[in-house]
Amino acid sequence: MQQPQELRAALLGAGIIASSHLEAIASVGGVSACAVADLDQSKADELAQQFGLRSYSDYRTMLREEQPDIAVIALPHFLHKEASLAAIAEGAHLMLEKPMALSTLECDEIIGAAQRANVRVMVGHTQHYIAENIEARAWVRSGKLGPLIMIQDNRHLPYYRPSRPAWFLDKALSGGGILANLGTHSIDKIQWLTDSSVARVSAATSYYGDRGNVEGSGMIYLRLQSGIAATIVQSGYPGEIRDETELIFAEGMLKLATGRGLWISRGGPYEPLPVPATATPFERQYHELTTAIREGRETDCPPAYARGVIGVLEAVYRAAETGEEQSLELLSDSPSTQREEYC
Ligand SMILES: NC(=O)c1ccc[n+]([C@@H]2O[C@H](COP(=O)([O-])OP(=O)(O)OC[C@H]3O[C@@H](n4cnc5c(N)ncnc54)[C@H](O)[C@@H]3O)[C@@H](O)[C@H]2O)c1
Repeated sequence: MQQPQELRAALLGAGIIASSHLEAIASVGGVSACAVADLDQSKADELAQQFGLRSYSDYRTMLREEQPDIAVIALPHFLHKEASLAAIAEGAHLMLEKPMALSTLECDEIIGAAQRANVRVMVGHTQHYIAENIEARAWVRSGKLGPLIMIQDNRHLPYYRPSRPAWFLDKALSGGGILANLGTHSIDKIQWLTDSSVARVSAATSYYGDRGNVEGSGMIYLRLQSGIAATIVQSGYPGEIRDETELIFAEGMLKLATGRGLWISRGGPYEPLPVPATATPFERQYHELTTAIREGRETDCPPAYARGVIGVLEAVYRAAETGEEQSLELLSDSPSTQREEYC
């Protein structure tokens, strides 16, 4: 039987996350990387040498000359929209890093352009592809611990360390601080674990970072369409690093430490649960995207879903600013939100 032609991927942005993409592309069959572009040519050159790619400083030149099947967009958030539109204009499918864009309006532009060009857009909501998250979701779906009642998600990561690129701390370039960057992971994780979308949001934020103008913490209270209540507590101030999600059911509890493990309690202390080994999250993302491209279907994480995450983030900031609960039902005026799929 004839093998399908290998898909060619070009990477926009040679920053911190770039090598995770290139390593995954190198280990997933049916796709290979051809080129990388970064405004800082030395960063592009370094990755190009390591992975055997052509190197560019201008991503538009790279897209035009390389004509890749897939554009991998790993750029600062304020460039997600313009880079997506440039890649779509060259006919490329997208692996677009999270968060999808700075606003739902920007997401709508990307979705519209992709629909007109008939290309797939996969937003890198990595949480869906992490082994213990997948296992936790299977427990939720099984009903073995009775109905899921509430979730508390805690993330603590010193956010202002000197190594953090400056754009992350400039609201106009990043869209926000810890909540735009890591809060979107938590919003996504909660919706995806529960197969339910956020209906209402209350939030408080603070601004005590020693540089930049973005929030350094957030406390969010969510009510999901299913009635489940959830809290997200995130701090970027000095303290112990933490990334834990507790799921509280009528007949027990799960503790999920993404990247570290999953534990269960049916009344006593937490005990570890076995988590089947899988490919890395980035490998799973590329497997899903390349399969969707070959099958001519949406990926299991379509852009309408990722747009919904940005809609919740917008509601979080509005709730923090006004001190008033925000209702997503009232805010969701776009057809793409009404068609949200939960993957
Ligand atoms: N899925 C995940 O778990 C995960 C983890 C980390 C980062 N991310 C996301 O990946 C994206 C990139 O994050 P990062 O940490 O790699 O950031 P980074 O700042 O390390 O990398 C961004 C790169 O883009 C380059 N750049 C800036 N403007 C450019 C332009 N006009 N043309 C070409 N290159 C340009 C910069 O020089 C830099 O090398 C963000 O969306 C971030 O939220 C996702």
